[in-house]
Parts: sequence; structure tokens; C-alpha cells
Amino acid sequence: MKRCLLLLLISMGYYSIKAQQITANDIPAIIGKLTVEEKVKLVVGAGMKMPGQGGTTVGSTEDKVPGAAGTSQSIERLGIAKVVMADGPAGVRIDPKRSSQADQTFYCTGFPVATSIASTFNTELMEKVGVAYGNEAKEYGVDIALAPALNIHRNPLGGRNFEYYSEDPVVSGKMAAAFVRGLQSQGVGATIKHFAANNQETNRNKINTIVSERALREIYLRNFEIAVKESQPWCVMSSYNKINEVFASESPELLTTILRKEWGFKGFVMTDWFGGESPAKQMLAGNDLLMPGTTKQEQDILNAIKDGSLSENVLNKNVEAILKVYSQTLTFRNYKPSYKPDLEAHKRVAKDAASEGMVLVKNENYTLPLKNAQSPIALLGIGSYETIAGGTGSGDVNKAYTVSIYEGLQKKGILLSEPLANYYQKYLKEEKAKIPPKQFFFEPDKIAPEMGFSDKQLDSLAEVSSVAVFTLTRTSGEFADRKLEADFNLTQVESDHLKKTAEAFHKRNKRFIVLLNIGGVIETASWKQYADAILITWQSGQEGGHAVADVLFGTVNPSGKLATTFPVNYEDVSSSKNFPGKELEAHTKEGGFAAFMGVKSEVVYEEDIFVGYRYFKTFGVPVSYPFGFGLSYSKFSLSNLKVSESKGDVKITCVIKNTGKSPGKEVAQVFIAAPKGNLIKPAKELKAFAKTKLLKPGEQQQLEFTLTSADLASFDASQSAWITEKGSYGILVGTSVADLPLKGKYDVKETKVVSKTNKVLVPARDINTLRTK
Ligand code: BGC
Repeated sequence: MKRCLLLLLISMGYYSIKAQQITANDIPAIIGKLTVEEKVKLVVGAGMKMPGQGGTTVGSTEDKVPGAAGTSQSIERLGIAKVVMADGPAGVRIDPKRSSQADQTFYCTGFPVATSIASTFNTELMEKVGVAYGNEAKEYGVDIALAPALNIHRNPLGGRNFEYYSEDPVVSGKMAAAFVRGLQSQGVGATIKHFAANNQETNRNKINTIVSERALREIYLRNFEIAVKESQPWCVMSSYNKINEVFASESPELLTTILRKEWGFKGFVMTDWFGGESPAKQMLAGNDLLMPGTTKQEQDILNAIKDGSLSENVLNKNVEAILKVYSQTLTFRNYKPSYKPDLEAHKRVAKDAASEGMVLVKNENYTLPLKNAQSPIALLGIGSYETIAGGTGSGDVNKAYTVSIYEGLQKKGILLSEPLANYYQKYLKEEKAKIPPKQFFFEPDKIAPEMGFSDKQLDSLAEVSSVAVFTLTRTSGEFADRKLEADFNLTQVESDHLKKTAEAFHKRNKRFIVLLNIGGVIETASWKQYADAILITWQSGQEGGHAVADVLFGTVNPSGKLATTFPVNYEDVSSSKNFPGKELEAHTKEGGFAAFMGVKSEVVYEEDIFVGYRYFKTFGVPVSYPFGFGLSYSKFSLSNLKVSESKGDVKITCVIKNTGKSPGKEVAQVFIAAPKGNLIKPAKELKAFAKTKLLKPGEQQQLEFTLTSADLASFDASQSAWITEKGSYGILVGTSVADLPLKGKYDVKETKVVSKTNKVLVPARDINTLRTK
């Protein structure tokens, strides 16, 4: 009876187990007191309520933070309380309302998607986003954030690319590290995910990723290595996929040899939700926590202990890793959340990140910035009125609002065509009513199709309007990759619309501007000639509309750069022939959970290290917009490149000067061009980047970079080592991979082994890797 009452009170949020204030030193003694059953509870999460999937799990998060993705299990007799984990990269994902606290709301700030923030190339700003996010998590009762996500943009159709930063491991790693530092400064743990080589959604739970040791080391692990070494995240989330035949969550080579022994990771590893197959293998691999946790997993581990296939010592190590992290959490430190994070301050951070992430890729004849005119703007495109703030699935955020581009411009006092706005709003209402309800709770959103206009309509619009602004919009999300047609490529209605609007407005000597409200790369080459200006606004979070208005009207001078290349055609992408791989068994007829787990399949990364610009530049394939590219309303000059050596490191300095008429920021990108040697090398590889402060016209700033000998090295699988080959390394500095005006060099006299690694994650078969001649 007493126990029932206690449970009721807990579930109503009236009572929570007072956590012990344990330190790392207490952990051996605590482990000594735990029974085997209790240890198993600590390595299996408390479960998850799956709509329509009742019975598969053991609990939920309702009693602590409703809507959080998971919690650990408590051991009441030892005062070990539940720890709360919540998604996701663009903001804390929890329910905005709680029945236990009906008088208040728990909305979280919807920050711009990762692709957008990465485009700022501003690690300081990224750190501020981490601080704001961390503060929100802390004040809403979240201990561990399931963010950041830093998988590589291997292919533009990757359904979760919006959650990830870049095609380049240095940008991904540095951005993730900055976010982690900000977040953890608030006492909230970060989880870097999904470790590793998780670059597609199709069959994600079963896909066997076949990839060379070198591509792993240089591309798909390098970003995680940077994040681990530069920010010490508390947690790592292993990915669903297999890497060279072994599930990431069951791979001792990945989770113990590389992550812990080679990189020095000190925290704990959790699975992705329902990831992997064998709990005992996961424990052995060093995947300490199984999330969200099921009763079957508990039973499997107990059975493995009983039959001797898993030793209790292994379990002790898993528990130790987990408790060491938990001892630092807010729950264990008895922190009482205020439930009042400073949402006003965070809103400003979200807006700054949004505007600084926008990338201006075309601006003919100073089309932008706009000035408020006598006649209204013809604001076209459904995305202008229902602007997409971010993608769907676990990367979504329950934000209080999203400012559309229409609202942002209106708020800024910009004259807009009201009849046009009404026309769109009526259309959107009708079209949205036709969209069938989601079959599955995480299914990606469907958006209304674009509305076409007749020539006559466009002509009358052109007559009465000052300028046309058209927003092209896209959404995508977890569980599905994007489609080539009508997603990467434009629909016929969209293409016609762009062409005809341009004609109608140009005929009257009026300008046509295109805004890209997208989370990932789309085709731009076939239509970009129609636009006078193109601004990639991305899915820029809840403040997106305000940020767009600020950039369009010059309150903010754009300084975003592309962290991923925009190719001419999809077929030009090096992985296009090998995405999303081959299915090795038929799909079951059964829907629901089984269908969602996918089928046995494999994908071979034949493009090897030639991902993104590493491919386009090396193989001379033309692109629509290159990596690193982005215009400003001002102009900048780069000069005074100095390359010198200091204690084995390469010191590089350069000066950036604002030679234009408006204050602005510029990014210096440092690439190396390695000499010919035994190993094939990409033509250019980004090694460092830095952004200036806001420079006034005429003002300049010196930027400094340090490259270590490891930064010059390539991975030689035959020696299991990072090798810096002798020869003259080009040090190229500029503002995109295609614009590197400063050229220096650095000579390496002797080939040297920078570091030896273990021979692990070896593919089980030969891969026909792409090679230069
Ligand atoms: C996603 C993770 C997420 C987890 C919890 C999984 O489906 O892949 O990124 O953190 O769910 O929501």
C-alpha cells in the first residue's frame, strides 16, 4: 500500500528519490553493494512508451521529464536516482506541457538546424548556442542531451543531413566540440552521435556499411576524434549500422580500442534507441548502456551472466563508466530546476545563429540588400508563409512558435502584398487538409505542394510589386532518406514558377530573389540563372523569419559559407552510385515496428576518402556552388600569408581586410595540397578555419592557425599508421575551396610516422575504391 502511494506520488511529480551525492571515489564501494540484478538495471534504460507498440518496453519518462527520449533506472535503496536524457541537435525535445504542472509550459528554443549553424563557420557562436541549449536543459530537468549529431554528409539524399554539420570532418569535429564545450559548461552532459559511419536512413538498423580503414580514419571517425579530444563529451551514442560486418554497438574495436584506448574517451557509451542485437556483445564491446531499455535485454544479460558468456567484471566496468558520469549530473548533485530558463535570451542566440548561418550564393548588381520600397514585395512560395524551422523526428523541437518569412518581414515594417498573402493562406489551409494523417508518430512531415501561377497572374503581380521574393522549401527527417525527384530536384511546378516569375519581373526591369528554406543540398544549376540573388536561409529555427528579414534588408551582412558542396547534378556526387546500398532480403508484409527496423542490406563506400569537395576538386568535376563559398554585402582582401615552423608545428598567419562599404565578417579557410607520395591524396583538404570579428570598412584583422604534423598526415592502412610523407605541402588560404589566393608552402624533409594505430575495423572483402590515376 505504502509503495503504491509512493509510486503514485512519483508519477505525479510530487516526490523524487533524493539522489546520493556520490563522487568517483565512492563508486567501487557502491558497485560492491549492488546485486547483479541491480547492475543489470543500471546498464538497461527505463524504457520508452512507443505509441502503438505497447509491451516492448519497461517504463517511460513521464514521471521526470515528459517527452524526454529516455531515462535510466533508479536503485532506490542506494539513492541512485533516474537520470534524464533528451534529444536533439536543434534544441531540447521534451513535451511542452506537463499534467503535473498544468499552470506552466515547457517550450524549448528551436535553434537553426546543424547544417545552418555549421555554415556560420563560427565556433564561438556555436559555443553560445551550446550554452543556451545547456541552460534550457538544466532548467527543465534534463541531465544529458542527445546531441550533437555529427555524421558526415556523405550523400545529399541523407534524410538526417539537416541534423549533421558538413561533408568535411574538420568542420564537423570543430563545430561539435564547440557545442559540447558550451553545453557541458552548464553541467549538462553531451552525447556525440551516431558513432559511426551512419550516413543514411534507409535500412538504418540493419545496414552493413562496408568501408575502408582509411576512409574510416580520415573521414568518418576523424570528426568524432576531434570532438572527443577537444571537448571530452560525457557520452557517445553508438550508431545502428554495422561497420564491416559488426554492429557499431557490438564492436569492441570501435568502442574500446579506438574510442577509449586510442582517443582517451572517459565517459560512457549508450546505444541508439533499440540499436544492435545482442546485449551481451554490447556489454563486452564497451557499449555500457542500452537505450531506451527493454525487459528482454535485462533478461538476456542476466542469462549471459548465468551461462558464463558474460563475466560480472565486464558488467562492473560498464556500471562504473555509467556511474562516473551520473555522479556529475544535475540530478545526482540534487540540482532543483527552476523551470524558468531565459527563453528571451536564447531567442536572441537562435536569431544570431540563424542570420549568421545564411549563405548568399548569388547577388547580381547589388540586388541585395533591399530597401523598403513604395510598392509591395511579391512574396511567393509556400515556404514564405509556412517557413520550415527544422526537420522532423528526434531532431525536432517542441518550440512555442516559428516566425515565418512573411511574419519576419511584416514585423520589420516591410510593405508586402496582402492579397497575395491571403491567397497563399487560403491555398495552404485547403492543401493541408488533404494531407493524410501520419501512420507512424515519427514519420517525416508532408508539406503542401507548391502553388503554380498563370502568366497573367504573374504579370499583374510584376506590375504592382517592387520585387519578387520566392521561397523554395523542403523538409526531411528521421526514418527516410530524401528522394531524387521532387526533393533534390525541383518539381515541374517549382521550375516553371521560377522561370516565369523571373520573366515577368525582368520584363519590367524588376528583380527576382530566391530564398532556399532547406535542410540539405538541392539542385540549383538548372535554374540559378533566373534569379538576381539567391540566399540559402536553411531551416533556421523558430526565429528564422526575423533572421531572413535582417539579412534581406542589410541589418545583418551575410557571412555564412557552405559546409557542404552543391553539385551540378545528383549523379556528379561520388557516392551516388552507392547510395543507399543493396537490400539482401525481402521486406516483411508486417507494418509497424518490423518495417521500421528495415531489412538486411549493405552499402559499399567505393568513393572512399573522396567525399564532397575532396572528390570534386581531385577529379575536376564542376559544381554549382563550391565548399566554403558564400558572399557578403562587403568585400574583403586576404594578404600577408606567413608560414613558419615552431617546435614541429606549422604556424600560419594572414590578414583579412574589409575593403567594402559595410561592416562584415569573413572566414579564412586553410587547405593543404599534399605532395605526390605513396598514398593517393585529395587535391585539397581543409585543415583549419577562423572567422573575423565584425570588421568595419577599412578595418583589418590578423588570423592565426597552428597545424601539427598530425594535420598533415594521411592514414596508411598497410602500416596502420598516420604518415606524413616527405615533400612540399601547399598551404592555401582563401574564402572557399575554389578561391584560395594566398599560397605558401611547408617542406617536410623526411617521411615520418606520426602515430601508430591498432589494426581494426578491417573490411571483410576487397573494396573497389575510387583512385586517382
Ligand atoms: C535517433 C537518435 C535519438 C534517439 C532518441 C533515435 O531514433 O536515431 O538520434 O537520440 O532516437 O530519440
